[in-house]
Amino acid sequence: MDKTIDQIYEEALNELAAADIETVTDLSVRYLGRKGIITQFLRNISKLPKEIRPEAGKRANQVKSDLEKKFREAVEQVESKTSGPVDGIDVSLPGRPARPGILHPITQITLEICDIFSRLGFDIAEGPEVETDYYNFEALNIPKNHPARDMQDTFYISDNIVLRTHTSPTQPRVMQKQSPPVRIIAPGKVYRCDSDITHTPMFNQVEGLLVDENVSFGDLKGVLTIFIHQMFDAETSLRFRPSFFPFTEPSAEVDMKCVICRGEGCRVCSHTGWLEILGAGMVHPAVFENVGYDIKKYSGFAFGMGVERIAMLKYKIDDTRKFFENDIRFLRQF
Ligand code: PHE
Repeated sequence: MDKTIDQIYEEALNELAAADIETVTDLSVRYLGRKGIITQFLRNISKLPKEIRPEAGKRANQVKSDLEKKFREAVEQVESKTSGPVDGIDVSLPGRPARPGILHPITQITLEICDIFSRLGFDIAEGPEVETDYYNFEALNIPKNHPARDMQDTFYISDNIVLRTHTSPTQPRVMQKQSPPVRIIAPGKVYRCDSDITHTPMFNQVEGLLVDENVSFGDLKGVLTIFIHQMFDAETSLRFRPSFFPFTEPSAEVDMKCVICRGEGCRVCSHTGWLEILGAGMVHPAVFENVGYDIKKYSGFAFGMGVERIAMLKYKIDDTRKFFENDIRFLRQF
């Protein structure tokens, strides 16, 4: 025993003061462990001269319990540090929650449109995006070389296969399979070779078709008015302008009162107070004949609307390309 208990004590305190996260536990074992310096000292007390034995034993036990307390505190401090901030990272903070995805705004609007028409008794129909010339044009009374083909800048895959330019080919497809009454809407993607702030080469339409006995233009107006009131509000009135489509007669382009200026005239509606939202009309007898429907017995109406157009007006967005740029900051707003 060459060191006094107080020398050991002093050394232990100095080492403890210099210890860091990695060494403090080892240090505690070195002094207080089973073979530690203090433990050895206490074991060796019996070898000391008799007169100083009680005093040395008492002091050694004091030092032991004091060091035990100090080391315990130091270890506790280290533990609280390792479960708290480490090098500027607080590992005890809860993790970042995973954000659930949302439906694309165009999908949301499509579902809303389908929902309104479903409640009016329409079924959902679908057709292919890669379509035959026959269904996209011929069956709809648009023969080859008809000037109306120029209205739509068609992407041709081959002479007889196109990317559908509208959802109207679902009309003859459904009617060939089903006899009247027919009440369907057909949402889907369509393609035209066109691109600017109001046109993208791919966009979405919803087609509507209703065929039965005694269907009139008044029914078309009624259904579209109910639709627009539910999609926007009861203040939103509609205007029907005479137009031309080879597959409807008479045909109309339908405008709704501008949702931005309420008809006063603004930039969005080019100061007319009205916004064009869809094409419509009474199904042309030639289309019925192509699918074998009795034109004396049945009449019907059809319409086709642009989903992006409705979405732009509903969300007040002035550039349709924004929907397809996939900027997550834009999409998260819906
Ligand atoms: N298919 C026409 C278009 O894309 C819209 C339309 C559908 C018009 C049905 C009349 C009837 O422009």
